[in-house]
Amino acid sequence: MHTLFAHHIETLRARFDRSLAETGFDALLLGSGTAPRRFLDDTQYPFRAHPPFVQWLPYLTEQPGSWLLLRPGQVPLLYLYCPDDFWHQTPEVPSSDWTALFEIECFADAGALKALCAGLGHTAVIAAAQPDFARDDWAHNPRDLMARLDFERALKTDWELHCLRRANRVAAQGHIAAEQLFHVGASEYRIHQGYLAAIDHNERDLPYDNIVALNRHAAVLHYQFQQREAPAERHTLLIDAGATHHGYAADITRTHAADRESAFAGLIAALDSAQKFLLHSVVPGASFVELHQQMHAALAQLLRDSGLVNASVEAQLEQGITRTFFPHGLGHLLGLQVHDVGGWQQDAAGSLREPPAEHPFLRLTRTLQPGFVITIEPGLYFIPSLLDRLRQSPAGETVNWTQVEALMPFGGIRIEDNIAVTAEGCENLTRDAFAAAGRADF
Ligand code: GLY
Ligand code: MN
Ligand code: MN
Repeated sequence: MHTLFAHHIETLRARFDRSLAETGFDALLLGSGTAPRRFLDDTQYPFRAHPPFVQWLPYLTEQPGSWLLLRPGQVPLLYLYCPDDFWHQTPEVPSSDWTALFEIECFADAGALKALCAGLGHTAVIAAAQPDFARDDWAHNPRDLMARLDFERALKTDWELHCLRRANRVAAQGHIAAEQLFHVGASEYRIHQGYLAAIDHNERDLPYDNIVALNRHAAVLHYQFQQREAPAERHTLLIDAGATHHGYAADITRTHAADRESAFAGLIAALDSAQKFLLHSVVPGASFVELHQQMHAALAQLLRDSGLVNASVEAQLEQGITRTFFPHGLGHLLGLQVHDVGGWQQDAAGSLREPPAEHPFLRLTRTLQPGFVITIEPGLYFIPSLLDRLRQSPAGETVNWTQVEALMPFGGIRIEDNIAVTAEGCENLTRDAFAAAGRADF
């Protein structure tokens, strides 16, 4: 593992040195972040380290107030904040095989960092806020430098791929536990607790808030609550839940039907097949916008085959019918952030390609390259407000409303895998993780 990590740091040093040279900076400070206080209170929101800092220091995800100094050609220097504070556990100087790749200095008072200011040339700071010790001429989050770094963050190193594989292995255990709890009638809250226990995470370890949606709640794309009471009738579980490994995220969704013989279970199986078929087109050089459009065509075929919509694929696409049932994007870049940076960026200079106007929520418009890790997450939902609009439009005539109404209590379906683009095609981190856990059926 140390070799993988050493190569990762070597790659980052080369990338950052090049980007600093191209943008004319002598030094870059990456902040680990701060833990903000709650309003009128002395407790803090959970600390989330800044992703650019974690990319270099994935073993230090819990240390607010620290700074990493990068200067071309020099060993990265970590200023680790070790305050004199008997209320909290303060960090000790880390000592492990990875620390040989850094110089590490502890400081107790931000005043100690003032000494830096005189010694550094043209300096950039990447952090949520410019630190108090910054000199007036330091650049805060300079666009040209960040564009270069964000663009290259899509290309995962072997260490990053390793972490993403591991995060998927962990999350798979949670999904298996969640499905079992669903089938014995657990509430959303109990399913969430069972998920956490199975993956040995607490809430602050999660890359995003779990979406644990029973029945109609599965139609709410980012459903944010967890009911303590189990509903009287059990139809569907949609669970969108991840895990982290050294700061790298898994982002997995599975949908389960209580009755495995129901029409809804048939729709889950059909969407699952369509998602797997689309993965044959996830290859280097593929346009993600075209993959998204290809998925809409596959969904139109599915809606026609299932009798939900009586219109040709072409007519459905032309009239935007599939967007009622699948209103979000096909996927996004994944890494240190669930929705990783640079999804619309077309080059290192920062030119953007926005998604087509009719697909505004598509988060990725880049051409796929080996080293990208993305999600592929088609959905098929019965969302009341969108269905109302469709019903009132001329295209509403083509919809079998009796069938739609019968399916509304089931909420919806999303199937989301994490995919690494390789030189030959792609590697499915999620299905590989389920297979390794003995559940190739997931
Ligand atoms: N879990 C959020 C997403 O799938 O994008
Ligand atoms: Mn996702
Ligand atoms: Mn998700």
